[in-house]
Amino acid sequence: MLERHGVDHAIYYGAKANKSCALVAAAVAAGAGVDVSSLAEFRDAVRAGATPDRICATGPAKSTAFLRALVEAGALIAVDSLEELDDIAALAPAGAGERAIRILLRYRPTSAERSRFGMERGALAVALERVAACDSVFRLEGFHFHLGGYDPETRVVALRELVPLIEIARMRGLDPRTIDIGGGLPVRYVEPELYEAHLTAQGPWHYRTGRVPRSFYPYGGRISAADWLERFLSATPMVGTTVAAFLRSRGLTLALEPGRSLVDQSAISLFRITRVKALGGDERVIFVEGSSFSACETWFASEFLVDPILVPGAASGVDEAARPVRAFVAGHSCLDEDVLTHRLIRFDREPRAGDLMIWANTAGYQMDLLENEFHRHPAPARLTATVGADGAFHFASDI
Ligand SMILES: Cc1ncc(COP(=O)(O)O)c(C=O)c1O
Repeated sequence: MLERHGVDHAIYYGAKANKSCALVAAAVAAGAGVDVSSLAEFRDAVRAGATPDRICATGPAKSTAFLRALVEAGALIAVDSLEELDDIAALAPAGAGERAIRILLRYRPTSAERSRFGMERGALAVALERVAACDSVFRLEGFHFHLGGYDPETRVVALRELVPLIEIARMRGLDPRTIDIGGGLPVRYVEPELYEAHLTAQGPWHYRTGRVPRSFYPYGGRISAADWLERFLSATPMVGTTVAAFLRSRGLTLALEPGRSLVDQSAISLFRITRVKALGGDERVIFVEGSSFSACETWFASEFLVDPILVPGAASGVDEAARPVRAFVAGHSCLDEDVLTHRLIRFDREPRAGDLMIWANTAGYQMDLLENEFHRHPAPARLTATVGADGAFHFASDI
């Protein structure tokens, strides 16, 4: 798509989507750069073979150690604030010159005016002034923004807002060449028609809380990640000019930091059932080994709408009299909020202790994002599976 539009581009895998080092390595092996937000992610990227020109650091509160490592390596830094700009200047090697620190300035689009990330127009203009005054310390490579939500149009508007700032930078003798629009390309878990039918049919009776969450990830959105890019590149924010034509005419590289969409279909999560408790009628609560810190949508007042697959454990024989039940799934902690689903999921037969529940496609923020050792339970294992020459799966720890 990017090539079809003749747009110079750089893709940085948003390593925040998953803690797996193997996924970072897979991204680097596929030719992508890495978007890192901590010293640990930076080290993973370097270990995976990403060269500094293929590493871009984002995030609002980079530690001094992280900033120092980025400066020493010569990686690209998306600067979040004037304060951070000053901190980075203080880390500049004496007589930086040739080794000027490579930066993007993070813009806060007006659609995100309440966001704490990035700089609004006024602050960004001040940043440009400071950068131009310290041209031996900084090399301004361009601008960055990242927006919540999954709508390409909001990115088009943000890009249009950036145009005058690109001009100001050039008037100040700077040479911005990159526009980094962050991530947010959607993953389509199910077909849009199925998803819409699901949303229409669901009601409070499907949730143990008696409430349907107010918002969901667009599990079956109308547009795929490819459509998203097409919509962005062919939008016409400037009279008669598409985004793609604008980028080409100004010699700008489009950088993207997809996280969730790059790890689509690359992981599963597995929980062993420890107990099933009857709640009256056909309702059950299933307790699993592990917690909702692994499947964390419920912590954001939403739900992961993918249903688990129930795999009978060794002790679960065939039950001729099996009757369907509905169950929500709870973690092993003492927190009432620790539920993997508020949703009452329908099972054709009663789940049993020792059975396994498998959720597919959890790599994008649904694996062990918030996981910890609550109650001193060991954190769940993160494993990488490879297929050996013998055709069998081989598992290795991915820490
Ligand atoms: C700066 C930045 N870039 C990229 C991403 C990745 O977004 P996504 O996983 O939706 O593609 C995020 C996610 O929060 C982010 O904050």
